[in-house]
Amino acid sequence: MQDMNDRILQVENLRKSFPGVLALDSIDFDLRRGEIHCLVGENGAGKSTFIEILSGKYRPDSGAIHLGHEEFHYFTPHQSIARGIQTTHQEDHLAMGVTAAENIFMGHLPKGRGGFFQLKECVRRAQALIDSLSLNVDVSKGAHELSPVEQRIVCIARALSRDTQILILDEPTAALGAEETAVLLSMIKKIREKGIGIIYITHYINEVFEVADRITIFKDGLKVGTHNRGETNREHVISEMVGREFGSIYTRPDHKAGEIVLTVDGLQTRGVLNDISFTLREGEIFGIGGLIGSGRTELVRTIFGLDRKDAGEVIYRGKKINPSNPMQAIVEGFGFLTEDRKGSGLIMGRPVRENINIVNLNVNKPVFLNLREEEKKVMEIVKKLRIVTPGIDQLVMNLSGGNQQKVVLSKWLLSGAVLLIFDEPTIGVDVGAKVEIYALMHELTTAGKSIIMISSDIPELLALSDRIGIMRNGTMVKILETPNEMNGEIILQYITGVRT
Ligand SMILES: Nc1ncnc2c1ncn2[C@@H]1O[C@H](COP(=O)(O)OP(=O)(O)OP(=O)(O)O)[C@@H](O)[C@H]1O
Ligand SMILES: [Mg+2]
Repeated sequence: MQDMNDRILQVENLRKSFPGVLALDSIDFDLRRGEIHCLVGENGAGKSTFIEILSGKYRPDSGAIHLGHEEFHYFTPHQSIARGIQTTHQEDHLAMGVTAAENIFMGHLPKGRGGFFQLKECVRRAQALIDSLSLNVDVSKGAHELSPVEQRIVCIARALSRDTQILILDEPTAALGAEETAVLLSMIKKIREKGIGIIYITHYINEVFEVADRITIFKDGLKVGTHNRGETNREHVISEMVGREFGSIYTRPDHKAGEIVLTVDGLQTRGVLNDISFTLREGEIFGIGGLIGSGRTELVRTIFGLDRKDAGEVIYRGKKINPSNPMQAIVEGFGFLTEDRKGSGLIMGRPVRENINIVNLNVNKPVFLNLREEEKKVMEIVKKLRIVTPGIDQLVMNLSGGNQQKVVLSKWLLSGAVLLIFDEPTIGVDVGAKVEIYALMHELTTAGKSIIMISSDIPELLALSDRIGIMRNGTMVKILETPNEMNGEIILQYITGVRT
């Protein structure tokens, strides 16, 4: 049993409200040295708000934070860092123009004699840090040369480059595939061995049970419970998160795909996509699996006319459409949910209502909108996907990460598009809402619409797809279609090249 003196952080009765929202109430929480404490809860439960209080971004309304023998009622960001608290976010980025090593020591670069910056010393110290975590990243490389998972590793290493006591990770593995996630999890376990206390937020319940020492569940701004990992199980944690019994296994409805609507034939872009061919049927979900960087996103961007192709055809209902810009694809009734919700999915400074309706306004011809009808639809989907918001007039930037994702998704689910491309549709979305989203996607296909879906989440690919194309190094190496082939192990083998 660990000593109570191992407690490095203790939070008492913390409360934080935003206009119209009580984000956190009566929160008690503690963290021990050398433990991984997972924080879980549905979208909008208050997880990010909690850690942003610890990082000094938000000031709580009331409550106390004990660090060692000091008591605080709030922190400034500077105090937080000075007390050894480091926070990493999913959207943290590296400075691309410099080396990985300089990124790691950004803000406190090692100085040599005479106070001048010394790259060699910086690389040496950064490499020592990476090596101490048993990782294989060359920190003398430019940040732009690193793979996505290496970039994430460098972001976390940056948080460790100071005298860190408490490391906070907010959804570090969102959008990483199984292999990449395994690397990151092993890194995090190594960090625990250094005696650092880690607060780990994730929506992947399997990760929780792989790394957690303790698990705390938030629901609607309240703490529901804290458990030792060995004294609870997945089903129990999920039922505490969603507040009801919950079958986490999604079973898809039986239905048959119709005739071919889309043919991609020999699609090629130099150095990126290599002779890709596949078809999509009416009422079908065609899944695309592969590592980040395997060409998945480039493939769908090219189909949608966002990227130029060098050769090949995109044929829709027997007609060569070869869109060279997105407008041409939209006119055909294509919709595209991009991976990057902040960049191109949402208008952050506008209300939920407008963000959901925006595609309807552009694509569907009617000039006289029936506003009440629109409003009813928006309210319905907000309810169905449990989008946590005080109302549909709330600005999207005030929503939690997962709820923003649900808004982008709603916009496409209601858009009236007949061929939908979804790139990582459920990133950051909680388990309960995922099931609702899957059901809505199947409602669309039952109505004869077709979907191409990229996902790094293998269970999600399996739950939704009629067939799955696997991308590796810019090539579609395999299309899986028989029930025997549609198997997580086999998918992973094709993704990683164990099977060819
Ligand atoms: N700046 C803000 N202004 C108004 N409301 C906010 C603000 N930030 C967060 N909220 C609200 O506080 C609640 C908690 O949000 P928070 O981001 O902490 O959720 P979360 O648990 O991190 O969810 P997710 O899993 O989706 O990331 C939500 O209802 C959210 O809309
Ligand atoms: Mg969050």
